[in-house]
Amino acid sequence: MALSTEILFQPVTLGAFSLPNRVVMAPMTRSHSPGGVPTVAVAEYYARRAANGVGLILTEGVLIDDPVAGGYPDCPVIYGAEALNGWKRVIDAVHQAGGRIMPQIWHVGEVHRLGEPPNPEQPGLGPSEVRDGEKVLVRAMSHDDIRRIVAAFAEAARQAKAIGFDGVEIHGAHGYLIDQFLWEKTNRRDDDYGGDFTRRLRFALEVVRAVKSAVGSDFPVVLRFSQWKPQDYAARLAETPEALADLLLPLKEAGVDWFHASNRRYHEPEFPGSGLNLAGWTKLITHCPTITVGSVGLDDVSWVGANATGVDPLLERLQRNEFDLVAVGRALLADHAWARKIREGRINDLIPYTKEALNTLN
Ligand SMILES: Cc1cc2nc3c(=O)[nH]c(=O)nc-3n(C[C@H](O)[C@H](O)[C@H](O)COP(=O)(O)O)c2cc1C
Repeated sequence: MALSTEILFQPVTLGAFSLPNRVVMAPMTRSHSPGGVPTVAVAEYYARRAANGVGLILTEGVLIDDPVAGGYPDCPVIYGAEALNGWKRVIDAVHQAGGRIMPQIWHVGEVHRLGEPPNPEQPGLGPSEVRDGEKVLVRAMSHDDIRRIVAAFAEAARQAKAIGFDGVEIHGAHGYLIDQFLWEKTNRRDDDYGGDFTRRLRFALEVVRAVKSAVGSDFPVVLRFSQWKPQDYAARLAETPEALADLLLPLKEAGVDWFHASNRRYHEPEFPGSGLNLAGWTKLITHCPTITVGSVGLDDVSWVGANATGVDPLLERLQRNEFDLVAVGRALLADHAWARKIREGRINDLIPYTKEALNTLN
């Protein structure tokens, strides 16, 4: 018999923050916001998940104010009256449906290359230069660039609070700008922002401090981080729990309230000798509220297709208090009623994930 899903669907209080349940929609880029402005269809898409039992929505990556923050078509931004009004519509719709919502603020860093939209005439910005012969595809950030981008993250968070979001998630994962500074392969600097791990961590700490001071103590600042990178699934920032503590504890001290530990498969142990996943270790080390993610409700990590499954192994980990919240990505793309069906035990009614789910805003 399947385990009771009650633990997933009870209201939860994290510090001063309460949520209707522990189900979180994972941030997923959808490329449906022409000109950077989230449309009515985007508001309806998120509200549909909230109305069907998702407690907290983490939006798709939302670009901070920099001409080369983006690297994909039609991503939303979080500056300028039109986009902010679009977001207000999204926030109202989700709140009316009983959910809470935080934007994921994002700069892609060296993923943007000279010659690519949205501003093809400008090279990208990253920790280190990337060239093609004589051509500079990505410019190594100067100290002025660093100050400006840190300030843009802070301003994005300030706007998020001003227009009614419930918190803010900083995208520090998956090989984008903040992660590029953390990872030795993409950070080849020899100044105070590169070299040993403490120096590579400095940019992330400055972003977190600036964001926290922009929003104050009553507005949760979430940091999403990952070991894996799209170009190297086996990459690691931390080989041991001690190294993970060296990464996370300074970030907590700088102002991170919750951590979002991104795994591709939540059921994989992070280090030998323990069944804990990355979120489990993160909670143990930091004592902060922690979100897990990765193949929840699906039998495969593939982008092309995966079958729907139940969530018993996840419930067992929740019962052991290994993490606080559970983010769901592809299963919620495929099936906006995923949370409701899981709550009602309707496993056979779940819609499997296919790549067609990527193209629609159902
Ligand atoms: C279409 C799509 C877009 C994504 N975009 C983002 C994003 O903007 N920011 C982010 O941190 N992760 C992004 N991800 C990763 C998801 O948040 C999640 O970590 C990943 O899909 C694993 O969870 P799942 O197995 O439940 O899908 C994206 C995933 C998908 C499928």
